[in-house]
Amino acid sequence: MAKAETAPSTDLFAQGADNTITLFSSDDNELLTQVGRGTPMGELFRQYWLPVLPVSHLEEAGGRPRRIRLLGEDLLAFRSRAGAVGLIGAFCPHRLAPLYFGRIEDDGVRCAYHGWKIGTDGACLEMPNVPEEHQFKERIRHPGYPVAERGGVIWTYMGQAETPPELPEFEFTMVPDDQRSFRLFHHQCNYLQAMEGGIDPTHVMWLHSPYNLSDDKTAAAHQPTQQRLANTSGSRTPESVEIVDTPGGFIYGAKRGLDAERNLWRINRFILPFYTMPPGGDQRSGRMWVPIDDEQCVKWMFNWYPTREIKEKTKEKLRAWQPEEEYLPELPEPYGHVWPKAHRANDYLINWETQKNARIGIAGVNLQDKCVQENQGPGPILDRRKENLCVGDKTIIRARRILQNAAVALRDKGETPQGVRNPDIYRVRAASIAVPKDANWVEYVKDSVTF
Ligand code: FES
Ligand SMILES: [Fe+2]
Repeated sequence: MAKAETAPSTDLFAQGADNTITLFSSDDNELLTQVGRGTPMGELFRQYWLPVLPVSHLEEAGGRPRRIRLLGEDLLAFRSRAGAVGLIGAFCPHRLAPLYFGRIEDDGVRCAYHGWKIGTDGACLEMPNVPEEHQFKERIRHPGYPVAERGGVIWTYMGQAETPPELPEFEFTMVPDDQRSFRLFHHQCNYLQAMEGGIDPTHVMWLHSPYNLSDDKTAAAHQPTQQRLANTSGSRTPESVEIVDTPGGFIYGAKRGLDAERNLWRINRFILPFYTMPPGGDQRSGRMWVPIDDEQCVKWMFNWYPTREIKEKTKEKLRAWQPEEEYLPELPEPYGHVWPKAHRANDYLINWETQKNARIGIAGVNLQDKCVQENQGPGPILDRRKENLCVGDKTIIRARRILQNAAVALRDKGETPQGVRNPDIYRVRAASIAVPKDANWVEYVKDSVTF
């Protein structure tokens, strides 16, 4: 039997004599990747508020609803004519007709087939095709989840607790609308391998960089400004990557020499259950990797300016998206309105000339990530038994262990995971900072990575 299948997963940092790191068993992989109700990870996710849609995707009262699937549950998101958001089971409790085609009314949606009406909370309000003496609407149990609109996001709670948790206190939720933006991308793969790309310190200088690091023309047309700074170090491999635990996650710093006195530290974050933050410039950014089901996820990119002064002085644009990242016309699928034009079925519109001469031929950092992640081994769920992890992957290993430990502690001891009742753990930022060589980087960056 292969070592991968027998190796214990207790000490994930144990490095063997051959420099490989302890691997993950098929049980570990199942635990980490399955998100349905009753699975350990599915229950862990159901402890938290989950982002459903940006408010801007469901703004019009009585307007077009959205097909949603979260943690394997098919749902319909709609805004009633009176303005309340409903997130309810997608199929009518009568004979499972799609409520997507129903009529949105003041207090709910009326099924197109026989007219049953379901309220924004999932209650069955009317059964008009049934005589009075045969009514049984109070016996209908239809999924309807609480929602909250905060920080430009429609959040939902799919757990069992009578009192929902606190909403996460992200900085982007606290700034005015015109200081933040959202972009969603549908991913045809399990959430975990997509999220792992968000905390992978050694891929950036390969996947997202020119073949020749001094090829300024390609870099300028292609890489964000702050990433180009790393090119000037001339090295693709960080000198070191250091992890520091934080409540519910960690920060890690990747160090590169900048000049005689200073190192460049690129500091990222991971926070339970699926948040990552890459270093940005004046415009901050973060990611949410939200499972649609075991085989698909939505990548949320949220950007914000902490203050108006920063917004005004910056030269970056709040919505600086690549034209290549345009969406397809809406598909009749969950999150069918956020499928990029470039996707798996068309090889991400790769340009083979560019691929031959300058950089990976797929345009845009997000599509480059998507292309790799959707096709890892061979997709849609990466088989972690077969990896040969190296020291450069220790951040990914740490995140897996945090998720695994939290899910098992919840399952076996009923332990509430970090962040559910202490929403202040989300008051954080990432950063890219030049640190004097003789300074302690963690101390030096402390004030820049919280607020
Ligand atoms: S299927 Fe919806 S009312 Fe009959
Ligand atoms: Fe990436």
